[in-house]
Amino acid sequence: MSRCKVIAGNWKMNLNAAQGVELIEKLKGEVGGCSCGCCDHGPEVVVCPPFTTLPAVVAAAKGSCLKVGAQNIHWAENGAFTGEISGSMLTAAGVTHVIVGHSERRQYFGETDATVNQRLLAGLANGLTVIVCVGELLSERVAGTTKAVIERQVRAALAGVDAAAMAGVIIAYEPVWAIGTGKVATTEEAQEVHAFIRALLKQLFACPCVAETTRILYGGSMNPGNAVGLLAQKDIDGGLIGGASLKADQFAALIRAAR
Ligand code: 13P
Repeated sequence: MSRCKVIAGNWKMNLNAAQGVELIEKLKGEVGGCSCGCCDHGPEVVVCPPFTTLPAVVAAAKGSCLKVGAQNIHWAENGAFTGEISGSMLTAAGVTHVIVGHSERRQYFGETDATVNQRLLAGLANGLTVIVCVGELLSERVAGTTKAVIERQVRAALAGVDAAAMAGVIIAYEPVWAIGTGKVATTEEAQEVHAFIRALLKQLFACPCVAETTRILYGGSMNPGNAVGLLAQKDIDGGLIGGASLKADQFAALIRAAR
């Protein structure tokens, strides 16, 4: 079964509205003005700007194949949760995707497996496609516990998700030691974990279609130079890109690499 590749840019805390629009205008030339969504004309392309940049980017991306995602979501519909954003606020802003469980949220902002699960469920309940991130620390890789860590994170993140709802889930494997460091995982290291995640999906869901159709992205220092090798791996269905997603020429080259 073929899986439409995904190239997703996580802008993190970069680019204000004007800078975001400027980047989108350049990217639109690359992805064309179609409204096909996915996938005859190439990968599904998603950009995930900061919250305040979202409306301007949604407006700028209109009429193109570019999809727009947020970088986080709260599980409540509204209420006293200072600094958080709800799913209905995101959908009202025209957002279709959301990232949850990024390692920077886990490391610096107290995100746990349990809150990642709550955020993922909220994303699905609001009709968003959820890009859920998992990945081991360098110390965990050195200690030989990579697969145990990934299994724990995937099981916890997907608790309460049934096979049908998995159509709205994309998994991103991002080894923490490869994020922003320039140290990309080798194609073999990445493929091994991706295959492990796919095998785990086979265990978790009775229907084999879930493992066959769920997109599993690689993230961590992906750039135009290393993308072709990574994307050629049988279980790597795209990339979640940080630094290289901020530059139109590099992100465009990544889109081309996924074609
Ligand atoms: P870099 O591509 O900058 O390493 O970031 C990866 C990432 O964290 C994407 O979510």
